[in-house]
Amino acid sequence: MSFPTQRPRRLRQSPGLRALARETRLHPEQLVAPLFVTAGEGRSKAITSMPGHAQLSCDLAVREAEALWGLGIRSFLLFGLPDVKDDEGSGAWDPAGPVPTALRALRGALPSSVLMADVCVDEYTSHGHCGVLRPRRDGVLDVDNDATVERLARISTVYAAAGADVVAPSDMMDGRVGAIRRALDADGWSDVVLLSYAVKYASAFYGPFREAADCAPKFGDRAGYQMDPANAREAIREVELDIAEGADMVMVKPALAYLDIIRAVRDAVNVPVAAYNVSGEYAMLHAAARNGWLDLERSVRETLLSIRRAGADIIVTYHARDIAKALG
Ligand code: PBG
Repeated sequence: MSFPTQRPRRLRQSPGLRALARETRLHPEQLVAPLFVTAGEGRSKAITSMPGHAQLSCDLAVREAEALWGLGIRSFLLFGLPDVKDDEGSGAWDPAGPVPTALRALRGALPSSVLMADVCVDEYTSHGHCGVLRPRRDGVLDVDNDATVERLARISTVYAAAGADVVAPSDMMDGRVGAIRRALDADGWSDVVLLSYAVKYASAFYGPFREAADCAPKFGDRAGYQMDPANAREAIREVELDIAEGADMVMVKPALAYLDIIRAVRDAVNVPVAAYNVSGEYAMLHAAARNGWLDLERSVRETLLSIRRAGADIIVTYHARDIAKALG
């Protein structure tokens, strides 16, 4: 009888040995917590498809961020919900809108937090698309790339002036990273970081977010600007373009159905890579856990570890509060 000399199980014997051999770790400082901010005061409206999350007025968003800060979360990503929407999404560049207001309040309450602002007009347009519309050659309405880019640049300077450390364009227009960088620099905001949603797929997993931010397109879909889920090489093209245009960090979104893309992007570039663990990915685990089909804490941990193992340095996740508590 011969015994194996290589015994991987030797390193699994005890919690101490397992911790020494562990390759990937989760830490609250790697996580970014999204917040949905509305106008007004004392307003909290639960988002039914995202248990534990709500649309919050600025005062309550500050309270929520303080609670997260207490758990070790240092970074926040703000989405704004205006009271009125229009064709152009002009609420997005209103310095008195929910995002600039929340940025100022959060800066006061948590001076050393990292404040990120999502830059897009879809929460602000009456039609729900991520840009200004104009008819294509065939008469069908489409998002006008360059007219939209001008507005994104303007929104970014408003958010920078309100105190954003990071602006994060999520629209997928061509050339927006360069335009935003130039606009920021021209206004004296050369220190504002640009986190590009470089690789954003036209995904079914954004479903609950569209309830959260009331931004489902009123007609058509986003396939004319977001990426085709079938494409991987195109992801590398998108990140290379965004980095050439001045992106400081790049994001892949969603995360779970795109772990291969996170790995490919991590291997292709040398800037920090973020992954967005999106609303549908959050809702799936909660729905299964509510039915008693999954252990929520274990499945959240395993999910976030998989995203880190695939190569993400940073994870934007609605699980931030729960996992920070569990890690604490
Ligand atoms: C668009 C935007 C979306 C998300 C973040 N920014 C929605 C979309 O493209 O429809 C989705 C986030 C999520 O599902 O958690 N501004």
